[in-house]
Amino acid sequence: MKHPGTNNKVFKKINNKFEWSKDNFEKITNILKKYPSNKIQSAVIPLLDLAQRQNKGWLSKNSMERVAETLSMSYIRVLEVATFYSMFNLEPIGKNFVQICRTTPCWLRGSEKLSKVAREVCDTEIGGTSEDEKFTVVEVECLGACCNAPMIQINDDYYEDLDEKNFRKLLIDLKNNKKVNIGSQIGRKSSQPEREF
Ligand code: FES
Repeated sequence: MKHPGTNNKVFKKINNKFEWSKDNFEKITNILKKYPSNKIQSAVIPLLDLAQRQNKGWLSKNSMERVAETLSMSYIRVLEVATFYSMFNLEPIGKNFVQICRTTPCWLRGSEKLSKVAREVCDTEIGGTSEDEKFTVVEVECLGACCNAPMIQINDDYYEDLDEKNFRKLLIDLKNNKKVNIGSQIGRKSSQPEREF
C-alpha cells in the first residue's frame, strides 16, 4: 500500500529551512509545561504534529532536526518516531490529503467505487499526488466511523455516507476551491438511523 506515511526514507529533493512560527513557538512553550523538565522528549509526537502542519502536511529533514533540537534529543530518535507512525508523512502531499477507508464495513458499502472516482477526478493513482498538487489519494484501514460507511478523511475532516455521485461532487468542489460540507453527505446527524429523517 503506497502511502507517504509509510515511507521510511527521508525525502531529499526538498529540504527548505525550517524555523518555528511564532504561533507554534508559543504552543510548544505550553506543551512543554505538561512534562517534567527532565522528560520533555515525551513531547516528540505533538511537536512532530506541529512541524508537519507548519510544513504543508509533511516532515522534511530540517523540520525533524528542528524538533530534535527543541527537545534536546538526537535526530535519529525523532526519525524513529516519525517513521513508526503512519500519521507522519515523509514526503510532500497535495493540498487535500484524501484517505479512503477500505476496511470491511466501508468495503461492503462501496469503498472500491470511491477509489475509482478518486482516481478519475483527482487524476492520480492511489498513493500518488496529482500534478496540480491539489490531491494526494491513499487507501487506509478503518478510520473508526464505520456506522456511516463508506467514509473518507480529507486533511482533518471526515466525510461520511458517501456514494459515487456525492463523492464525485465533493472532489470536484474541492478541485474548484468551493466550500464543502463536512460529515454526513446525506444530512444525518451522528450515526442516527437513516429511516428517521
Ligand atoms: S471500516 Fe471504514 S470507518 Fe471503519
